Amino acid sequence: MTMFTQEFWDERYRGDRTLWSGRPNPQLVARAATLTPASALDVGCGEGADVMWLAERGWTVTGADVSPVALTRAAARAAEAGPVTAARIQWRHVDLFSEDFEPFDVYHLVNSQYLHFPPQERDRALQRLAAAVSPGGSLLLVSHHPSDLEIPGLRPNVPGLFSTASELAAPLDRTEWEILTEAAPQRTVDGPGARPVTIRDSVLHARRRQ
Ligand SMILES: C[S@@+](CC[C@H](N)C(=O)[O-])C[C@H]1O[C@@H](n2cnc3c(N)ncnc32)[C@H](O)[C@@H]1O
Repeated sequence: MTMFTQEFWDERYRGDRTLWSGRPNPQLVARAATLTPASALDVGCGEGADVMWLAERGWTVTGADVSPVALTRAAARAAEAGPVTAARIQWRHVDLFSEDFEPFDVYHLVNSQYLHFPPQERDRALQRLAAAVSPGGSLLLVSHHPSDLEIPGLRPNVPGLFSTASELAAPLDRTEWEILTEAAPQRTVDGPGARPVTIRDSVLHARRRQ
């Protein structure tokens, strides 16, 4: 499917407009506030708002994405933030679904928000993300919830594209992982025609046991 390829995302990021709000994702702000800054990996980082937010709080961050155009855009924004923040950030081009995928290093926090998986790739992609969490570290995954498909015109209607939190948690071996949050919180956003709609996120926060 095209929406999982570099070409699809490069084309989207090539336009003049920014695609996302520039603000960090609320679930990251809520969860990372409880963590001591260390090393972090953000996969599917897009324009880098989560990367920037972490780096500004003292984290050393790698932002990874399939789109080199997105990474260039994110790096330009990081450079504008000044040398102290920019020095804490690295960028990596990666295709999480590729057969040629090279494993990540390990990090104290692995964050991935709204990077949606081809259904047949989901468990392998989740295992690749989980493998990048160090002992004692956190895995924070956020997806649009499948119930958002009940809102006409809001999301691409691709069966299996969106995951519940329990589907995100499914590949984690519970002897190795402690589940801290497995939830589907609601929030209100502007929907089609700028009408407010109530959507749900799937949120998984798990800690790798020491
Ligand atoms: C919906 S955007 C989310 C961006 C950012 N996490 C945010 O919340 O603003 C999904 C991102 O995942 C990236 N992506 C899509 N497929 C990918 C893949 N196979 N490997 C790595 N990143 C991918 C896209 O380029 C895009 O930046």
